[in-house]
Amino acid sequence: MGNTELELGFQKILDGNKEWVDFVSNDTTGRFEQLAKGQSPEVLWIGCADSRVPANELTGKKPGEVFVHRNIANMVIHSDMSMLAVLDYSVNVLKVKQIIIAGHYGCGGVAASLSRNQYGIIDNWLCHIKDVYRLHSAEIDAIENTEDKANKLVELNVKEQVFNLCTTSIIQNAWKERNDLAVHGMVINIGTGELIDLDTTFTSNDELGEVFSYK
Ligand code: CO
Repeated sequence: MGNTELELGFQKILDGNKEWVDFVSNDTTGRFEQLAKGQSPEVLWIGCADSRVPANELTGKKPGEVFVHRNIANMVIHSDMSMLAVLDYSVNVLKVKQIIIAGHYGCGGVAASLSRNQYGIIDNWLCHIKDVYRLHSAEIDAIENTEDKANKLVELNVKEQVFNLCTTSIIQNAWKERNDLAVHGMVINIGTGELIDLDTTFTSNDELGEVFSYK
């Protein structure tokens, strides 16, 4: 301690919670008592860790309605145990119905992946986005403006992560058991608040192609 600015910053967090506690204690619907007992969200949100893209606010959802996993640049890496654990629990225990992978224009992770700069250990994470670039390099290289280039990669990256998610054994096995599970790819325009559907929705493993779709 001894850093006043730091202490004030922490105090603001505590004050913010007091406001929330007031709000909760004034609620007369009983929904917080209900929430304290358990959750049954219908949505799993996989989004960027960026502070500007909060899942609930963007979708008009209340606490208890969205299960959330966020990481840098909303990636679905097949060996990421954290993502797999969130996915398994939400799909097989909570039985979510709508899964949204949400990228956003102006994503720093995506922009960094298009540069040759080293940023540290994160370079190895961002390399997965460079892999997406490699698949679409002709399309991206044809765009001149750096920002437009990055935003195109934001969209293509979301589509690729949707595909990555659908090829997991977790999603494919869930589709064998039920037909009420959809995976959507979307992109957020932070300036307008819009959540734009990229029209890359999967609802069964029929669309994955032979090598990817498990028997
Ligand atoms: Co981002």
